[in-house]
Amino acid sequence: MKNSNQANSSLNTYLLEIKNISHNFDYPLFENINLTLKKQQTIAIVGISGSGKSTLLNIFCSLLKPHSGEIIYNKQNIFNLSKKNLLSIRRKDFGIIFQAHYLFRGFDANENLEIASLLTNNTVDSRLLEKLKIDHVMTQGVGELSGGQQQRLSIARVLTKKPKIIFADEPTGNLDKKTSIEVMDVLFDYVKQNNAGMILVTHEQEIAQKCDKIYRLNENKLEELK
Ligand SMILES: Nc1ncnc2c1ncn2[C@@H]1O[C@H](COP(=O)(O)OP(=O)(O)OP(=O)(O)O)[C@@H](O)[C@H]1O
Ligand SMILES: [Mg+2]
Repeated sequence: MKNSNQANSSLNTYLLEIKNISHNFDYPLFENINLTLKKQQTIAIVGISGSGKSTLLNIFCSLLKPHSGEIIYNKQNIFNLSKKNLLSIRRKDFGIIFQAHYLFRGFDANENLEIASLLTNNTVDSRLLEKLKIDHVMTQGVGELSGGQQQRLSIARVLTKKPKIIFADEPTGNLDKKTSIEVMDVLFDYVKQNNAGMILVTHEQEIAQKCDKIYRLNENKLEELK
């Protein structure tokens, strides 16, 4: 009984709390953005090109410090953490999937995954590679993979770390529609099965609709669409 109560209450706590984020370059980009992410929840952020989606995701995942506001993870504002603690969260708890996917070019696909498994003490899941349809290219060098294969390898590498939160910026941008839905299903299944959460930037309506919530970044604000 006690255990099930604990499990329920842990589902209700926020994985990530975004409070009053404002940021500007030469002009205000957004003001007072608030958002919460729960375990097993997926959130899509949509908006026209240049509205600031990537910048916002960079702030959410700690890569860019906003001009004001807080991001609370594990009860702490990540921008107040020491460099060492922040790096450890980025390495172990946050899975960052961006369009420029920083694979190690001098290594083959297997070696790129082994790095993630070594850094986080997790094993490479061969079923994951089958689901992403890259199991047959694992001995090829990164330069010998197609753009879409590289993108799926970078997704496999992120999932191998077993992250608590996935931040994905158009993760299926290089993929045809069928493959893109299959890859997104791998990400959605991961979130549900591992009690994780995901914040996703996408231009694809069909993918956004599969998320629990959808927000549009428009005129400096996040509007809730779903
Ligand atoms: N480091 C930077 N310095 C100055 N301006 C920047 C910087 N990064 C982004 N911008 C500007 O901020 C605005 C938002 O850029 P961002 O990349 O966040 O948009 P986006 O919504 O992700 O667009 P897209 O859908 O095309 O990817 C753009 O006008 C961009 O030029
Ligand atoms: Mg962008």
